[in-house]
Amino acid sequence: MEQQKRYGHFDDQHREYVITDPQTPWPWINYLGNEDFFSLISNTAGGYSFYKDAKFRRITRYRYNNVPMDNGGRYFYIKDGDTVWNPGWKPCKTPLDFYECRHGMSYTRITGRKNGVEASVLFFVPLKKWCEVQKLTLKNESSETKTLKLFSFEEWCLWNAATDMENFQRNFSTGEVEIEGSTIYHKTEYRERRNHYAFYHVNAPIQGFDTDRETFVGLYNSFADPQAVIEGKPRNSHAHGWSPIASHYIEVTLAPGESKDFVFLLGYIENEQDEKFEAPQVINKKKAHALIAELDTTEKVDKAFAELCQLWDALLNIYKVKTGNDKLDRMVNIWNQYQCMVTFNFSRSASFFESGVGRGMGFRDSNQDLVGFVHQIPPRARQRIIDIASTQFPDGGCYHQYQPLTKRGNNDIGGGFNDDPCWLIFGTVAYIKETGDFSILDEMVPFDNQPGSEVTLFEHLKVSMDHVIKNLGPHLLPLIGRADWNDCLNLNCFSWDPNESFQTTENVSEGTKAESLMIAGLFVVTGKDYVALCKKIGKNDEAERMQKAVDAMIAAVKKDGWDGEWYLRAYDFYGNKIGSNECEEAKIFIESQGWCTMAEIGAEDGMVAKSLDSCKKYLECEHGMVLNNPAFTKYIYEYGEISSYPEGYKENAGIFCHNNPWVIIGECLAGRGNDAWSHYAKILPSYVEEKYQTLHKVEPYVNCQMVAGKDAFKPGEGKNSWLTGTAAWMWYTVSEFILGIKPDYDGIRIDPCLPETATDYTVNRKFREAEYEITIHPNGAQKGVKQIVLDGKPVDGTVIPYSVGKHTVEVTM
Ligand code: GLC
Ligand code: GLC
Repeated sequence: MEQQKRYGHFDDQHREYVITDPQTPWPWINYLGNEDFFSLISNTAGGYSFYKDAKFRRITRYRYNNVPMDNGGRYFYIKDGDTVWNPGWKPCKTPLDFYECRHGMSYTRITGRKNGVEASVLFFVPLKKWCEVQKLTLKNESSETKTLKLFSFEEWCLWNAATDMENFQRNFSTGEVEIEGSTIYHKTEYRERRNHYAFYHVNAPIQGFDTDRETFVGLYNSFADPQAVIEGKPRNSHAHGWSPIASHYIEVTLAPGESKDFVFLLGYIENEQDEKFEAPQVINKKKAHALIAELDTTEKVDKAFAELCQLWDALLNIYKVKTGNDKLDRMVNIWNQYQCMVTFNFSRSASFFESGVGRGMGFRDSNQDLVGFVHQIPPRARQRIIDIASTQFPDGGCYHQYQPLTKRGNNDIGGGFNDDPCWLIFGTVAYIKETGDFSILDEMVPFDNQPGSEVTLFEHLKVSMDHVIKNLGPHLLPLIGRADWNDCLNLNCFSWDPNESFQTTENVSEGTKAESLMIAGLFVVTGKDYVALCKKIGKNDEAERMQKAVDAMIAAVKKDGWDGEWYLRAYDFYGNKIGSNECEEAKIFIESQGWCTMAEIGAEDGMVAKSLDSCKKYLECEHGMVLNNPAFTKYIYEYGEISSYPEGYKENAGIFCHNNPWVIIGECLAGRGNDAWSHYAKILPSYVEEKYQTLHKVEPYVNCQMVAGKDAFKPGEGKNSWLTGTAAWMWYTVSEFILGIKPDYDGIRIDPCLPETATDYTVNRKFREAEYEITIHPNGAQKGVKQIVLDGKPVDGTVIPYSVGKHTVEVTM
């Protein structure tokens, strides 16, 4: 194997990934912010900020897919004599004497050194505050006095990130700013309907500024050589229309060994309608002043940073494993949980692959993200469930996405994805098992956000199940609708028109016949959960009714969903099999293997074992399991987008990491620990990090949505990092099925499934008002708990009953 270049390494003690070469194979980013104010930041300080919604409240401008890549961000230019450099190397790209970027838990620290000066910037969003802090520390490490010219730089986005990129006839005339001392205010459209503005402040006197981009940069220059910086002279420009920016100019003199801190603040403010102005045309700055006053010294900033770190200490203290395998421990204890929080916050809206304008929060996506996150801040998961359910229609169908700012269903994409309803059960059950909070089921929740339409959340779960039952096809399997989990299996689309969206077009809706085995498996898994929940709350008739539907679905899968060696994937509009040995291409698909093995359909007849073996035989490759095999080599009109992708990419035989855990859970339920582990390690970032940094390209500390599959031009190349259901599924798989610590209504179920080589390990698990220290002795077994001893007393079965307080648990396999 070719030796791969390395660009960084893990620092587990600080929970950081340390990047030591700015020229990573792709920008390696991090996320700042936990609740309302968010930023994306790359290892060279590129990226942008927004308030709640990356489309409607974009604060700073960013250019996607630009040349050069990752263009725009928060830049500090340091002019030292004739040399101009940036601590993050970009945009000037002046070679640095030292460069380091440390991505940590909701913060990033970038340090550069040049000609005896060190510049280190700590970026973070303080808890409960609507701003990004940039604490810049300049240090003179040389033996002579240094006089430096420092320029800051941010470019404002005109709020709506979509129109910002297209409506130039308007945009070039609307831009407005105000300058007051060391603060530059961005107030475009504030005069009319907006009641919000942004500001960029520094806690030091400035000797100049710029707010007009062309004046600062020069029309024919770039961020790499802004004229004002090159000449060392700010223009004190005042933007009127065109492109407003914010740049401070500060002259700094540092004696040998001396260092100085500057606190830069990028803030966002909302005012009440009748308090918008302090004088005609002058924005009311009271709240901005107050926010600035909270963070105007190094001490205050350090305190806010310490609070953020404490939050992460607490969040990562809920589930902690010690196996002695660093690569596993760091993913479980740090990065997997961190990525789960990020995907929960952002759904699929804003990353370096998701532009923040295309998508809101997905119905299915959010329910899955929740499962990776619910143990950390259950009240936020609860709120999310209610928000999601509120976008459901009375018949159980749902909007596929909603906008986080308005919480309304997104009409552009609409509904009709027939797997969506089931996910609500998946999310809600996970929430109740974690918290024991059954009261959520009584919460009154509207349909389609219509006041007056409220029914209990339980009723939403019921119509969700019914939506599947009421939409069965000719083989009594679930109708797929526009698509199931696989957005690209568009069996009613029939499109030859490149201007049509595969997602929303149904050219054949009448008499729809296409059916999905993935939804069948999903229905059985969530149906069993629903039945158990009904019994738990005494709704026995409902439990019985749904058990019958589940049994009928199992029978339908066994009868018409089995291909001999694996589960079929679907039936198309004409009733032809998809994912069958009879097919020319794409004979086997992963999704139905995952869901039907998780549902254990036909386990007694050997179907599960055969299906899992087929995954190994046909889907597995060096970098994980591909989605289908063989790949489609031509476009198939009746299949839709799936066959539009070149071989090995995305849903056409890419390793769509999201669905690998489904098969891994299938393996775990079947007790095949060696196989489960080998599939898991193939897509575990820390294992990939060690071997394939250059090939993999994207961030080595998180999962990406897709890794190019075995049929691709470059197998192993990763794309679409960060925002992927993979995060939650990897977490769910390792925490509950491999390490085997599974929250349940009355306690914690312990049922690990491990490789034979596993040695003793300990999990510290906080659970409701209890804390368990669980030590597992695998004794070479892959599965099967022989004995559980709780606080010195043997327990019957595999559930340790919940009780308040600290407990010790010994588990022998
Ligand atoms: C993307 C979507 C997700 C979908 C998957 C497969 O990750 O966010 O909703 O299930 O692709 O198409
Ligand atoms: C495309 C992508 C798929 C994604 C969908 C949603 O179909 O291939 O992964 O889920 O778009 O926008």
